[in-house]
Amino acid sequence: MTQDELKALVGQAALQYVVPGEIVGVGTGSTVNKFIEALAGMKDRVRGAVSSSEASTARLRAIGVPVFDANEVGELAVYIDGADEIDGVGHMIKGGGAALTREKIVAAQSRSFVCIADESKLVPVLGTFPVPVEVVPMAAGRIARQFAAMGARATLRVKDGAPLVTDNGQRILDVAGLKIDQPLAFESEVNQWPGVVTVGVFAHQKASVCLLGTPSGVRTIKF
Ligand code: A5P
Repeated sequence: MTQDELKALVGQAALQYVVPGEIVGVGTGSTVNKFIEALAGMKDRVRGAVSSSEASTARLRAIGVPVFDANEVGELAVYIDGADEIDGVGHMIKGGGAALTREKIVAAQSRSFVCIADESKLVPVLGTFPVPVEVVPMAAGRIARQFAAMGARATLRVKDGAPLVTDNGQRILDVAGLKIDQPLAFESEVNQWPGVVTVGVFAHQKASVCLLGTPSGVRTIKF
């Protein structure tokens, strides 16, 4: 099975967590795009969605699912999103698609987080994938130096030859060379640095369940 087929498999499997008549939280990325494609088949049975990015909002509207502002609705039953890495207890690295801040906001507003991923995303320790950190532009240089002092390398993410601008008008630093064996402590510490908007370690907003795509089918891991 190709990686694309594994993503389609878990995107389809995530439908079982969508509560009919309710509003579902929707993440961002290529795996979530498969979920949105599958959701088209039950769009008349959901009230709508809260989306984590302009990109997912456009896809949801294209299939006819109403998209609500997070402030218009209360707590959501479920948030469905992918991950760049997930460890054995449900901590994740996210933000490869630059949507980490809104992803963390919608995850925090949801009772459960269903992570959908192909099996390459499951790791023993987070940190092989460079950690995305959304930062206020004027703080990017200083924050990069703080990571350098930890022995890591922060690189400003570039798109089409210019610094990438997030949906929130901020920048992304991708931080390589970290071995995150204490995700909760790491997330708490970096969150406090002035100019950090969101760190792409999801330990406080960890997954409740992971649907992992494998060649022999969907493996469900509950945390
Ligand atoms: C988007 O900002 C990310 O957090 C994605 O959820 C993550 O990068 C996984 O993306 P893919 O499903 O495209 O691998």
